[in-house]
Amino acid sequence: MNASQRGAWERLGQENPYYGVLTSALYRGRVLAGESREQFFSSGENDLRVMLGLVERHLRKQRRFHRALEFGCGVGRMTLPLAAYADRVVGVDVSAAMCAEGARNRDAAGIKNLVFTLPEHGLDTDLPPYDLIYSYNVFQHIPVAEGLRYLERLLDCLKPGGVAALHFTCVDPRPAWQARGTRLLRRIPLVRNVMNWINGEGFSGSAMQMYAYPFEQIMPRLQAHGVRELACDLSDHDGWRGIVLCFVKPLYSPRVAGGLQVEEGEEQQPQQQTDAGRSE
Ligand SMILES: C[S@@+](CC[C@H](N)C(=O)[O-])C[C@H]1O[C@@H](n2cnc3c(N)ncnc32)[C@H](O)[C@@H]1O
Repeated sequence: MNASQRGAWERLGQENPYYGVLTSALYRGRVLAGESREQFFSSGENDLRVMLGLVERHLRKQRRFHRALEFGCGVGRMTLPLAAYADRVVGVDVSAAMCAEGARNRDAAGIKNLVFTLPEHGLDTDLPPYDLIYSYNVFQHIPVAEGLRYLERLLDCLKPGGVAALHFTCVDPRPAWQARGTRLLRRIPLVRNVMNWINGEGFSGSAMQMYAYPFEQIMPRLQAHGVRELACDLSDHDGWRGIVLCFVKPLYSPRVAGGLQVEEGEEQQPQQQTDAGRSE
């Protein structure tokens, strides 16, 4: 992600954090109150229920996790309800302003077992691994090559035996000429600015760009970690068709010579993590 995209998410987090998560006119503005706020957070509960339903239906019965991570958590729409299913929850987002708003929402809800932080802290492989990792509506906004690197990092941070549910958009609904034309036009600075403005992101923002991930590039990364079985739900957001991939990371990983066994109860203690918007 280039500095301008990162800056655009930061700006959205400062000026329009809820709209940056769900692009509906209902959610415009710096703060959200009343019915819109209720609707926003109940949509998060619903989406989380669907995600955990997929995990439960296909992969394992129990729904209690020790350490859970949401990648690209925004203002905590789905992270807040996750706190009821895990001992410790980490929400990771590239925008410190989104993290800070998430922390305010957490405090308002009286939740104690949740921190919000930047990827460089929450995806540190020296931390104890997570036994649940999920991400929804996030990879689609990250350029493919970078998103695939994040996928590898998430796989590294997942505990052997842990479960992941990751959402990718795979099909760009635009005709090829239009998709290519838009990409080319976006390279021209002034034209890009006007396109951003038309999309309601302000003149210089470019956060909400969409990327389609070729499944054949996702598959080998999963296989490198020994993943052989997948469960999935299909998604369709205005013609951008995608997939929520749900899988267990096997105890034996081809990336680690001789496999990797983790004894229950052998985990290190969590290291200090802080909300990105707060001083350490
Ligand atoms: C559309 S919002 C979805 C938020 C949340 N997953 C939800 O559904 O409520 C996308 C989020 O991904 C975050 N994001 C974008 N690129 C990211 C990256 N490279 N690493 C982590 N977070 C990122 C944005 O800051 C934004 O909060």
